[in-house]
Amino acid sequence: MDLREKSFADTVRDIAAEGVVLLENNGVLPLTEDRKRIALYGAGAVLTRKGGTGSGDVSVEHVTNIVEALEEAGFEITTKSWLSDYEERIEKSETERFDRMKAEAAATGDPLMSVFLRNPQILVDGAELPRFAEKIDDETAVYIISRISGECADREALPGDYFLTEREKEHLKALVENYEDVVVVLNTGGVLDTGFYREIEGLSAMIFISQAGVACGTVLADVFSGRAVPSGKLTSTWARNYSDYPASGSFRDNTGNDKFYEEGIYVGYRYFDSFGIEPAYAFGYGKSYTDFSWEVCGIKADEEEIRLIVDVTNTGSLYCGKEVLQVYTSSPAGSLDKPWQELRGFEKTELLAPGETQRVTIVWETRSMASYCEEKAAYILEAGQYLVRLGNSSRNTEAVAAIELDETVVTERLRNRLAPCQALKECRPREYERETMEKAVPVYKIYAGNFKPAAEPYQESTKTASDKSYEKDCCTYEDVKAGAASPKTLVSQLSAEEMAALCVGAGAIGNGAVIGSAAIKVPGAAGETTSALYEKWKIPTAVLADGPAGLRLILRYQVRNADNSVVVPPTGFLALTGFERLSGKQPEEENCRYVEQKTTAIPIGSMMAQTWNPQAIRQVGQIVSAEMNQYGVHIWLAPAINIHRDPLCGRNFEYYSEDPLLAGICAATMTRGIQSVPGFGVTVKHFAANSQEENRFDQNSVVSERALREIYLKGFEKVVKEADPLMLMTSYNLINGVHAANNRELLKDILRTEWGFRGAVVTDWGTTRNGMRAGFGGKTRSLPEKCISSGNDLIMPGDVRDREEILSAIESGELSMEDLRTCAANLIRNLQRLCL
Ligand code: BGC
Repeated sequence: MDLREKSFADTVRDIAAEGVVLLENNGVLPLTEDRKRIALYGAGAVLTRKGGTGSGDVSVEHVTNIVEALEEAGFEITTKSWLSDYEERIEKSETERFDRMKAEAAATGDPLMSVFLRNPQILVDGAELPRFAEKIDDETAVYIISRISGECADREALPGDYFLTEREKEHLKALVENYEDVVVVLNTGGVLDTGFYREIEGLSAMIFISQAGVACGTVLADVFSGRAVPSGKLTSTWARNYSDYPASGSFRDNTGNDKFYEEGIYVGYRYFDSFGIEPAYAFGYGKSYTDFSWEVCGIKADEEEIRLIVDVTNTGSLYCGKEVLQVYTSSPAGSLDKPWQELRGFEKTELLAPGETQRVTIVWETRSMASYCEEKAAYILEAGQYLVRLGNSSRNTEAVAAIELDETVVTERLRNRLAPCQALKECRPREYERETMEKAVPVYKIYAGNFKPAAEPYQESTKTASDKSYEKDCCTYEDVKAGAASPKTLVSQLSAEEMAALCVGAGAIGNGAVIGSAAIKVPGAAGETTSALYEKWKIPTAVLADGPAGLRLILRYQVRNADNSVVVPPTGFLALTGFERLSGKQPEEENCRYVEQKTTAIPIGSMMAQTWNPQAIRQVGQIVSAEMNQYGVHIWLAPAINIHRDPLCGRNFEYYSEDPLLAGICAATMTRGIQSVPGFGVTVKHFAANSQEENRFDQNSVVSERALREIYLKGFEKVVKEADPLMLMTSYNLINGVHAANNRELLKDILRTEWGFRGAVVTDWGTTRNGMRAGFGGKTRSLPEKCISSGNDLIMPGDVRDREEILSAIESGELSMEDLRTCAANLIRNLQRLCL
């Protein structure tokens, strides 16, 4: 590790403990100085998961697993023989898996990548544990449960995934008989059924270390030793029973393409709280090694904003810690159903020493409490009392104030968009009793008359496009860059062929492979924009590479000494951990040298959100942009901000939360972190209502306009309005019958007109199915010409057929030159923002 890599790894390590959620602790943690002997068991001890699979993976040379990390931190591992036996079991099972995949690829002819993605690693049982005659009390038993998931497949509500296997349960039962102290560690990307913790008596603590990238092992050593204090809070509800989740009944049922979002706005805690269901661990929950108290010392409320000033004190005597103060509000009953409570804001303290107090201020806009009324096509703040609840988890709050509004007020006038074209029966909570306040809370009166008049983004534009700009004589991108010509002017000179080339990624130049062989700039990057217009128009190429778990590039590749050209392996540069074992090592060519691209695996998205610390997220963003700078990547394909609708979504680990406000804040902070340095941009994905992996190309999310606006689009709206992301990626799925990439209401009306998005819109990879070989699933597709007419500016990775289909639509009159010009100009404007 060179110094720079080490400093990035250290930053991740310092931040990681802030995303660790301490679920249970009877006082055994942190392990005191005299408790250095650990009886370590469980799959994740050796097979520690740093993150998930697929495009949300990052290639790294070595992952320091939990065994190594604990030993480095000075712990003695007393169960080495059990662990090495487990390693042998894994190797045996992996050999069988790769043999099976090779046979499957030969039999089906499917691309190796698709075979690889549909054959995830199997969880192997560890050896049975002996029962000792007497309990051991000078060792702490630590049991690591790990799970992994990723793109293309959802998780399953089965043992080995959402549930513990019988063997895992047997192990835990043996451990409580053998040891005084038993700590359970969850090294998973998301929710697991934790019923075992209630069933098996004698467990001492449970800690959710999630998947911390380069710090996946060290973070546990740090929180065990007390070098760091866990201060993470859950960003999704952990239910007592999987069937408690409102979408659980139909989530895995893909017999048809329609997915009815019958729970409407009642997602996550909004559902559990409104329907009176007790979760195992609530949204916002997480313990510390110490305790905190808090006291409101000031409230200010008017028609603009509400401001809560709170003193937070570490009331413990031994350990430092950080607390997250959260504010929820309950809206008055009115003409619209309302969730029992909704998150409005939060603040995390600094590290407080025992006895230390910090003053924090939590602020939110008054109009952010409005609900969307489909009938009026407007956000309305209904008359009545808005109860303000303050606490350190969604289930541990106290009412501290009430905001009373005299009359209903319209805060934003919109137009009805994206209405479901099929009947959708949404569930409604029973009428719940308003909390009877034990102690009187101060009431702050606000008045409808004092609100600013509601904005209306759909005003007819008085500006007419000046045709003059199209008349200007020859200019190139260099003139645009110098400010001497506008993107529109440049575009006006391009032929339809040239614009179609610009709006289709560089895959179109070569042979239709993921990366056209004529155009590889950064091996392992997910794609490039075209370089075909460079010679004549000086239009530069932008390189796009995945996230969100760091910068996903190939770790090592060969370059020919003679001409510095890159040697392309027959399967392309896929940058998927373990793939080389299937594809075979690339043969060494003569007269070549190796080039390395080492990037930092950062904690998975949900873990970043679990820090509830925007400052930490920003810092991690700066690591990614430094690496983009080093390797020549311009656009990061992250953050990913889809909503955790159900815990079984295979990519929830990439996404932040079940709550759109939290997801939006995380995404906006990450965006600011990356884009703080000119020359780099993010791509916020996947827009929108993309809640599952299986059947992802054909799945049609049937969802109400209100649920879309309040839940599934809200986080995107926040990041667009507050952080100005360079790009947005449309999702594969359909929304109310229309593919996201072909959805004019989504892209033109909502994204651009209502929210004022000035970035570029890019498709997800292969959504037009052109250039996608058999074996990748998907029966329906977005049409390239409709991408253009709907405002999806760039089609990736791009294929010659995308270009041809656009051009024949222009010829037939189905697609207008004006629409093509608009997309081309959007792209040029955003290349310019990258300082290219
Ligand atoms: C994923 C995207 C990713 C893209 C490029 C797609 O399969 O859905 O999230 O950015 O591939 O790798």
